[in-house]
Amino acid sequence: MLPFGIPRWLLCPSWFRSILETAAKVVVAMYFDPNGKAPELAYNPIKAMVAPRPIGWISTVSATGICNLAPYSFFNLIADAPFMVMFATSGHKDSFFNAVASGEFVWNLVGEDLADAMNRSAATVEAGVDEFDLAGVTKAASQTVKAPRVAEAVAALECKVDQFVPLKSSIEGRHNSMVIATVSSAFIQDEFVVNGRFDTAAAKILARLGYADYTVVDRVFPLQRPN
Ligand SMILES: Cc1cc2nc3c(=O)[nH]c(=O)nc-3n(C[C@H](O)[C@H](O)[C@H](O)COP(=O)(O)O)c2cc1C
Repeated sequence: MLPFGIPRWLLCPSWFRSILETAAKVVVAMYFDPNGKAPELAYNPIKAMVAPRPIGWISTVSATGICNLAPYSFFNLIADAPFMVMFATSGHKDSFFNAVASGEFVWNLVGEDLADAMNRSAATVEAGVDEFDLAGVTKAASQTVKAPRVAEAVAALECKVDQFVPLKSSIEGRHNSMVIATVSSAFIQDEFVVNGRFDTAAAKILARLGYADYTVVDRVFPLQRPN
């Protein structure tokens, strides 16, 4: 320590100060309560960290024949023999009730051009509202399920429900569930099949990040696995 309480390191050369500053930044790394509110964070960042997440744009039909459409980013492909998918609902919503009642749903691929339509279909509306109309998209008949696919979507998977898995809920009175299903038929618009492969970059797939953010898959590169 120098006179007047001045720390000696303040006089040290700039390269040494830069090492100290880098070390200080490392110390700033933080743990936070995943289910709480950290004072340093404006919003919970976990959805922004586990990103991008594919969007399950789920179409279903109710027992009374009303078509429903809604996005679910707790969605993924979970098996390949047979191909299986899941979506999870935070609170039981119309897509869940329709999947329970009919045992079926369709996953529709959201391309960048359908971002606004997808977002419109996320509105909370009465079960009697046809959400294809709400989103402004067209119904196309499916092959193996009653629920229609979105005609404008470049790809779709028809799915038959296998299991409903109740999930924990930390919110009193809210029931969360995962719906697991087997793909019974798959569809791709002709122009997105190039040299026998699905043209992922051309499909401009929309994916969910955290906060209000999204991304588009527009850069694709191959990486061969080691033996
Ligand atoms: C991109 C996006 C992803 C969403 N992901 C989920 C999700 O994974 N689980 C969920 O319960 N709600 C999710 N939501 C909210 C639902 O889409 C919303 O509650 C919708 O009204 C549910 O519609 P439904 O009652 O017709 O099923 C998401 C919304 C958006 C815009």
